[in-house]
Amino acid sequence: MVDIHTHILFEVDDGAESREESLMMCRIAQENDIHSIITTSHFIDVRTAQEYVDIRQNRIDSLKEEAAQRFDVHLYPGAEVHITAPMLELTDFSPFTLNHSRYLLAEFPFRLERPELILDQVDALFDRGVIPILAHPERLIYLQKNYQLINELNDMGALFQVTLSSLAGNFGREACLLAMAMAKANMIDCLASDAHRPLGHRGIDLLEQAVYIRPPLPEYLMNRMLVETPTQILNDQPVSARPVDPIRPRTTLF
Ligand SMILES: [Fe+2]
Repeated sequence: MVDIHTHILFEVDDGAESREESLMMCRIAQENDIHSIITTSHFIDVRTAQEYVDIRQNRIDSLKEEAAQRFDVHLYPGAEVHITAPMLELTDFSPFTLNHSRYLLAEFPFRLERPELILDQVDALFDRGVIPILAHPERLIYLQKNYQLINELNDMGALFQVTLSSLAGNFGREACLLAMAMAKANMIDCLASDAHRPLGHRGIDLLEQAVYIRPPLPEYLMNRMLVETPTQILNDQPVSARPVDPIRPRTTLF
């Protein structure tokens, strides 16, 4: 498997707190059949762009040899880019895409006063020449309340990364309902860990977490979300088209 969303680099953000913890995450990843990990520490302040790239390189350099030799786990550069108006002043997102591909892991604020602005911001990212992958859309409060916005984002060509443990209920009922609705509509491109720790609800133990998805999702679908599409992203290939049903408006779920 390829995990496209992790906070595995130590002492960069609120993820791994030490080099030892980063390596422990690599070990747990190996035990869970994850062989490729894109490092996506939070990139929040556009003014620290160069600093971010330098620290990321330093941490990857510190870990990559040992991770490969001891665990056969390979680390690649990326970022979880927090999208705000100042961030969109950046004209070149290429240092922050996933493994220098066309794909950008974009995190939108959990709350927005005017949620429809997300459409303009996604549009702006396409204008900058990247394909946005929305990080954990199921956890964004305004999307939980407005499924129609997700259909619109999908129609624009945005991709979606759902956090696997949301499907297992670890981020609450609303996130679980939306994640399940998206899975049923075939609208999830990738499942990822968003791991901050080796184990637990923010852990990198994806196989362990998947056991708690109820009802279980079909194997072909899990394979596409955990292996096929993440591999295409890692290798900067076009992602396979997925026939999508619109997800049902929130109000009809009850
Ligand atoms: Fe994250």
